[in-house]
Amino acid sequence: MIDTPPTAAPHIVIFDSGVGGLSILQAARQQLPHGRFSYLSDNGGFPYGNKPAHHVIDRACRVLESFAAEVDDVDVYVIACNTASTLALPRLRRHFTRPVVGVVPAIKPAAELSRNKYIGLLATPGTVKRSYTKRLIEEFASDCHVVSVGSSALVELAERKLRQEYISPEQLQPILAPLITLSSSNPTPARLDTLVLACTHFPLLADEIAQALSPRVQLVDSGLAIARRIAYWTERIQPLASLPTQPTYAWFTRADSSTESLSDTLALFGFDEIRLLHIPTP
Ligand code: DGL
Repeated sequence: MIDTPPTAAPHIVIFDSGVGGLSILQAARQQLPHGRFSYLSDNGGFPYGNKPAHHVIDRACRVLESFAAEVDDVDVYVIACNTASTLALPRLRRHFTRPVVGVVPAIKPAAELSRNKYIGLLATPGTVKRSYTKRLIEEFASDCHVVSVGSSALVELAERKLRQEYISPEQLQPILAPLITLSSSNPTPARLDTLVLACTHFPLLADEIAQALSPRVQLVDSGLAIARRIAYWTERIQPLASLPTQPTYAWFTRADSSTESLSDTLALFGFDEIRLLHIPTP
């Protein structure tokens, strides 16, 4: 049987501060092979994970509103950044008439999967301390011991990996040490059997993280759940544009040599061209 593509492909924009959203893009492409994807990185505002909440909310909203002013046929917005989602989703959903899908820490599935009821949470420093994350733990992992680790250094390593730099598991060891080492917040490290990758940058380092930890630790992220949520919406809405094939763009808020060094990676992820998005000053 011939698999006939739909006449109009839904246009989905995947947004993150940096390259982290590419981990969500991978999962989304598998779920929606006929989707038309744009990527939007606020590399001019990167990183978000160590910035105050009000700054992240204002910046993420300003970037997405500027993008919508430039590209007017987006069907689904995906906030592929835990740091921005845990803060800015309500405001973005009020602003946009099209669906806005967010990514939040996969604490619920991790708590269900953990046999020892002892889980790790690896996120940005911002996500670890947000009340949204604390509420998720109270609601879905109240029967688990949770060891939380916030790291911006790991975000940087993922950025470097996607710029073709070799990252060794040894470089991750000091960052992951609180998950392995006995401390007041980690009283029985040998019981930790599940780790939530609650920053979209971290699945890009899944192999290195797995090698640095014991094989008994299973890694859990939100990629598949978000991909299914995007598919849920694309099945329910009529695409705004009728052109199924167009060049695909990866948009950045700053153009420099570090942006250029992502060209090969972006081509591998299926993007034809890098574009610059101008963000007006507040
Ligand atoms: N990828 C983003 C997240 O999921 C954070 C990276 C950053 O610190 O900007 O939280």
